[in-house]
This record gives sequence, structure tokens and C-alpha cells, in this order.
Amino acid sequence: MNTHELTEQFKQKYGDGSHPVRLFQAPGRVNLIGEHIDYNGGYVLPAALEFGTTLVIRAREDDELHFASTNFEYESVISVKDAGKQKTGEWVDYPVGVIVELIEKGIELSNGYDMLFHGEIPNGAGLSSSASIEVVTAYTLLSLEGQATDTVEIALLSQRAENRYVGVNCGIMDQFAVANGAKDHAILLMCDTLEYKRVPFKTGSYKLIIGNTNKRRGLVDSAYNERRTQCVEALDILRKEHPSLNYLAQLSVEQFQTLEDLIGDETVRRRARHVVEENARVLASVEALADNDLVTFGQLMNASHDSLRDLYEVSCKELDVMVEEARRIPGTLGSRMTGAGFGGCTVSLVHEGDVEEFVKRVGEAYRTRTELEASFYVCGVGDGVKERKGDM
Ligand code: GLA
Repeated sequence: MNTHELTEQFKQKYGDGSHPVRLFQAPGRVNLIGEHIDYNGGYVLPAALEFGTTLVIRAREDDELHFASTNFEYESVISVKDAGKQKTGEWVDYPVGVIVELIEKGIELSNGYDMLFHGEIPNGAGLSSSASIEVVTAYTLLSLEGQATDTVEIALLSQRAENRYVGVNCGIMDQFAVANGAKDHAILLMCDTLEYKRVPFKTGSYKLIIGNTNKRRGLVDSAYNERRTQCVEALDILRKEHPSLNYLAQLSVEQFQTLEDLIGDETVRRRARHVVEENARVLASVEALADNDLVTFGQLMNASHDSLRDLYEVSCKELDVMVEEARRIPGTLGSRMTGAGFGGCTVSLVHEGDVEEFVKRVGEAYRTRTELEASFYVCGVGDGVKERKGDM
């Protein structure tokens, strides 16, 4: 929906008011490579999508916060002073969690707001629809309250909202990418120090295709937490030899090879090996992209998926089928699952001349093999959070 349509919809819902209506947008994200690395203190390479969540907002005269969405029926009204008193288990927990964190930081809202959220990211698809809602809420309210909009701080605050209020133990990658993305650039983020660099993502005649398995992501929270615990377990063992080690991803592949036998549990050892090798693949990917060597980058994407499937075990049948079928298309340079896993999406790098065939053939084979209907998005890399002005 363009800004005009969204503004009209907002006015239909909330009527006319004396303050101006403004629109802000935060994108979804796709992780190109570096999966399950953020909470292990290494490098990730996500990119912002061209679609995301728009927040249409207007200040109120009183202290009421009105939440509505074009995607969900659930709506709510709370007063600023009651923010965070009652978790609902509904989508509003995301923006409310952000407001709670703003208040925690000493940023009081000076009045209430009418808010209409419009999301274009499929929910639960691993494209960070929740990070997108959090970041757009934080950026918008800070802007309207005349506060600084430091996008690194916004990412951290949004992550805290997700960890503490929503109760999901995610790392920093999603919120960081959504807050700091830039058109046609991937973000090389060092998750330990939060140092980052925007690297040009020039794919020439190749396109990114996101394939949504449309498989409901079951078990994702418990399995995610289990992986995190296993990484801590591996780290604790290795720290006995190397007390200065703070994160698994600080180890080079060679260092890990000399140490891995210390980890007695075979499963835990495989988890740690994935982390160390995946981290190295991110750095190799950045070099390949700088050299315009998309073939190597595609091979690294493939290796990443295989490791997530075999060593980290966060893939699932649907993701594996989609990746396998994608790799059968001659113009595919690489294909992998993206995000936490157990469902959600794949990302593939495909020659523009093969995109149509990709969508048709992968879609058909996927339907036959899984009895599910896939969705595909051919997408470019967009900007991070910003105000939406004029028609788009
Ligand atoms: C989810 C989490 C991220 C990250 C990825 C896996 O998207 O929110 O913090 O851990 O999984 O790479």
C-alpha cells in the first residue's frame, strides 16, 4: 500500500485529528550467510529487504496509546502509564515491549498516539517481521519525541524488548539489520563488538530469490535455546584450556581442529564446529563479493546450508527439499536456509534468465515432495528504518 492509501486507512480508523499523520518504515531482513553466529560472537552478513512494516502514527491530546494493524484483528488501548503492565500474547506485545524499554531508558512519552501498523512480511517465515515491528516502533517514537535516533542503540533496545518482554532469547542480528540496512548493501556485523561495515551487494545478472516453505515453524524456540546452551557448553570446556576465549567464533578453523577432541559429547562438538566454520565462511564470502566472485559466494552458501543441516541440525525436510530442488536449476549459484531454521525460508542466488523456470520447477517439485505450496519473492536489498515520505 502506498502512503496515500495508508493515510486514508488511518483516517478511516481514527478520524481527523489536529496533529499531522506521519509514516515510518522498517524492512524485513534476509541473512545471506553466518547462521547461528550472532550469539556466538562472530560475523554475520544480513541484508535489509525492500518490504517491511509501516507504522502510521499521529499524536493524541490525551495519554492513550491506540494500537491497530491491517494484518491482525486484535486491537488495544492502554494509557501511557500502564504500558507493560499486562502482556497479552498478541502482536501488540512487540511495540509495547519497545515502549517499556524506552521508559526504562528514561524516555517518557509526552502524550498518547494513534498507531496503525501495516506489515508486508509474512509472519513466522524467518524474515524478521517481529524485529521490523520493534525497530519501526522505537525509531518512530524517538523521532516524534524529539530524541536521538541512533540506529545501533535502537537495535539493542529492540533486542532487549524481544528478550525481556516478548520472552524470545534471540541474538542481535535481526534488529541490527533492520535498523542499519542500506540499499544494495549487505551488512558485515561483528556481533561481539557491534562494529559493522556496509558491503556493496552487486549481483549483476543474478537475483536473490527467497523461497518460503510455508511450513509452520514448530519447536523453534525450544530448539533454538537448546543450540545456545550447547554452544555455551562447548565454550565452557574450551575455556578451561583457553581462559581468554569469550566466544566460540573467536577460534579459527585450525585452532578448533587442535582443540575439538576436548569436547567429549559428539553432538556438542558438531555444534561448535559449525560455528567456527560458518564464521570463516562469512569472511570468505565478503572477500568473494569484493572480487565479484559470485560462484565462490554461491558455493559458500551451499556449504552453509549443508552444515546447518548436518552439524547444527536446524534444517527440516521442507527446507532441504527446497534447497535440493533449487540447486538442480542450472542458473542457481547457491541455495541455503536463512534464519533460525525448522521451517521459514531459503535464499538462493539465481541467474536472471532462470528466475521464471526456478519459480515454476522448484515450486512444482516442492509441492509434489511435501504437499505444501511454496511462495517465492524475487527481491532486491533495501534501506534500513526511515521515515516514509510521499507515495511509494
Ligand atoms: C533468529 C534470531 C537471530 C539469529 C538467527 C540465526 O533469526 O533472531 O538472532 O540467531 O535466528 O542465525
